[in-house]
Amino acid sequence: MAIKFGRPIEMRDDATRNHPRTAAAPSLDLSTRMRRNRKSEWARRLVRENVLTTDDLIWPLFVVGGNNTRTPIASMPGVERLTVDQCVRDAERAMKLDIPCLALFPYTDPSLRDDNGSEALNADNLVCEAVRAIKKEFPELGLLCDVALDPYTSHGHDGLLHDGRILNDETVAVLVQQALVQAEAGCDIIAPSDMMDGRVAAIREALDDAGFLDVQIMAYAAKYASAFYGPFRDAIGSSKTLTGDKRTYQMDSANSDEALREVELDIAEGADMVMVKPGLPYLDIVRRVKDTFAMPTFAYQVSGEYAMIAGAANNGWIDGERAMMESLVAFKRAGADGVLTYFAPAAAEKLKGQR
Ligand code: PBG
Repeated sequence: MAIKFGRPIEMRDDATRNHPRTAAAPSLDLSTRMRRNRKSEWARRLVRENVLTTDDLIWPLFVVGGNNTRTPIASMPGVERLTVDQCVRDAERAMKLDIPCLALFPYTDPSLRDDNGSEALNADNLVCEAVRAIKKEFPELGLLCDVALDPYTSHGHDGLLHDGRILNDETVAVLVQQALVQAEAGCDIIAPSDMMDGRVAAIREALDDAGFLDVQIMAYAAKYASAFYGPFRDAIGSSKTLTGDKRTYQMDSANSDEALREVELDIAEGADMVMVKPGLPYLDIVRRVKDTFAMPTFAYQVSGEYAMIAGAANNGWIDGERAMMESLVAFKRAGADGVLTYFAPAAAEKLKGQR
C-alpha cells in the first residue's frame, strides 16, 4: 500500500484556487486544534517563527564631557550620560555581551553650541574622542555615528536655520563635513538622521573621494516627526532649546507610501542599510520596506518607547523584562534585521541567561 504524505494533490490544487495566498489552505477541519503546538515550552520552541539574538542589537550611548562620571537621565530610567572613559567601559560590556555595534550621541556643552552647529566639525569633539578611545581598546566593536546638527546647534534643529526655515543644500554641505570628521576618527557606520534631501549621495561621494570606501551608510530613511523623541532631547540637552518642531523635514506620521519613496531614494543614493524610526508605532512601515526592497532593514526603538516600558515597569504596572523581550521580537516579526534600542544590554543579558 502506498504511503501518503499529506492530502492528495488534486485536493491541494483545489484548495489553492480558493485561497491563493496559502499553498495548502485547509477546508474547515474540526480536528484542528491550534493549542496542540502550544502545549509545552519545547513544543512552542519547535514552532517558533522568529528569534531575537544579540546579533540583532545596536546599543545607543550618550557621551558627555568630564571624567569617570555617569549621570542618570530622568526621563530614561536606567540610561545614563557617560564620560568617554565610561563609554569605554560600556564598550567592554558590549563586547562581553556579543552586542555587535554601539551608536554614539553627544551631550554638547551649551557654551559650544551655536547657530551653525560648528562643533559638529571639530575633529576633537566628544563623539570623535569617544570613537577613538573605544576603537583603541576594542577595534572589533562596530561604531555608528549619527549625522545631524541638533546636538550642536543653539536652536536644536538638525540643519541650518535661516529666517525660520531649514536650508537643505547648505545643510547637506555641512553634514558631508561632519561625516568626514567622524570617518576620520574611525567610525564604521555613518547614520544620517537629519532627513535633508540628497544627503546620502553627497556623503557617499565625499567618503569615497576621501578613501573611506568601506565606511557604511545606514540611512535614517523613513524618519517621522515624532513625540516619542522627547526623552532623547533631554539626554542630549536640546529639548529646552528647540524652537518650533521638525515637521518640515521629518515625515508626517500619517504617511506610508511616502516612506517607500524615501527609502527608494536613499538606496539609489548609496545607502547600505536603511532604518525606520520610531519603532513599535511604525512596524507596518518596517514590513513594507523589507518586503519592497529586501534591504538590510533596521528599526529604532526610540527614547519615548523605552521610557514608556521602563516607566511602567518601575511603577509595577507591567513586567518590564517580558515587555522588553516582547517588543524586541516584534521588530523581528515585522521583518527588521536589527534594532537600535536602549534595552540592548538588558536584552543581551537576558538572551545569554545572565538575568
Ligand atoms: C537627531 C536624532 C534624534 C534621534 C536620533 N537622532 C532626535 C530628533 O530627530 O529630534 C531620536 C532618538 C530617540 O528618541 O531615541 N537627529
